Amino acid sequence: MSHFYYHGGELHAEGCALPALADHYGTPCYVYSRAELRQNYLSYANALGEHPGKICYAVKANSNIAVLQVLAELGAGFDIVSKGELQRVLAAGGSAQQVIFSGVGKTRDEMVFALQQGIGCFNVESTAELELLSQVASECNLSANISLRVNPDVDAQTHPYISTGLKENKFGIDIAIAPEVYQQAAALPNINILGVDCHIGSQLTQLEPFMDALDRLLMLIDNLQQKGIVIQHLDLGGGLGVCYQNETPPSTADYLAQVKQKLGNRSLAIYLEPGRSISATAGVLLTEVLYLKPTVHRNFAIIDAAMNDNIRPALYQAWQNVLPLQENSPAASAVWDLVGPVCETGDFLAKQRELSLENGDRLALMSSGAYGFVMSSNYNTRGRAAEIMVDGDQHFLIRERESFETIVAGEHLLPGGKA
Ligand SMILES: Cc1ncc(COP(=O)(O)O)c(C=O)c1O
Repeated sequence: MSHFYYHGGELHAEGCALPALADHYGTPCYVYSRAELRQNYLSYANALGEHPGKICYAVKANSNIAVLQVLAELGAGFDIVSKGELQRVLAAGGSAQQVIFSGVGKTRDEMVFALQQGIGCFNVESTAELELLSQVASECNLSANISLRVNPDVDAQTHPYISTGLKENKFGIDIAIAPEVYQQAAALPNINILGVDCHIGSQLTQLEPFMDALDRLLMLIDNLQQKGIVIQHLDLGGGLGVCYQNETPPSTADYLAQVKQKLGNRSLAIYLEPGRSISATAGVLLTEVLYLKPTVHRNFAIIDAAMNDNIRPALYQAWQNVLPLQENSPAASAVWDLVGPVCETGDFLAKQRELSLENGDRLALMSSGAYGFVMSSNYNTRGRAAEIMVDGDQHFLIRERESFETIVAGEHLLPGGKA
């Protein structure tokens, strides 16, 4: 059930009318629903059920500390890719023991910080990283729990930019050489092997690629067992898709039922790293129409949100639904391209949408809660949007709109300037 719906002609997030929130906070702004976040996380937790394991929310999808707080309170683990993301989890009240550290380029400094905090597990992506981690852990006199992120060479059948499990991608260790690398890991000081990990891509709308990857990981785990290396957990990464337009992604219940069935009687905990499928549908981006610019070739509606606020359409040709905050008569509708004020032809949030528009109308770009705000920038010296969390009929500012002063804080004039 979605927590975004029309009531009395106005689009709502839970018990809050979005036109009133747009008046109160201004546009563009991101609005998140706490109940939707909770529902999406719990659908995984319930599907995992009594089976040992952990749902580790991928912080990169939406890292606002209030979002992390909601999930930490529900008992979520977290998947991070930087020291900054770990600091966010800690600031949100999460614990490092519940965190797994992914990413191809961890620095020495990040390893030291994570080890000192007592991180749950590192997902190691290369032999060079493994050797450095062993060295750093030895220097810290600590032991590093690890999984190797293996690259199972399966086609995730998704957009090439978000496909990560093919041989030609930069991610993970080729599954063919993984047994050797595990043996190397077993011999290294201050390394404690816990798991096997993979992440094959994002926005997957079928289970087959996950199941192909799982088959390959299980073969590896059985092979390692024969070599005396006992794996305790299997981490299948994130990647389950959501419905942006007419996709029909599998349910978490089906996904986990199939995973459990494949595990058979192996004693393996299940770890997952979902990002998009927890936060995407929990957020919308509100924007206002600044100008209508019909031309002979195309009708442009220039809106106050731009590619710096949400880069997904420009970067991946992503399609997100657009809804008016106030229901209006479709009688006067036309086909519009919704474009932002940024000086790039790629600056659009939606193309060829049938909408009834007037200057000053407010719109919601639906399912913007994942890879939206986190990928925003200050391009064109635009302050990043405010973020708001709705909880029932209450709403909270969880990140202020950036001012000019915040944007230039940290910049310095050269000495001797005239300013
Ligand atoms: C290692 C890893 N885990 C998890 C995720 C989350 O993926 P998604 O948001 O598609 O669930 C990503 C996304 O890029 C990732 O790189």
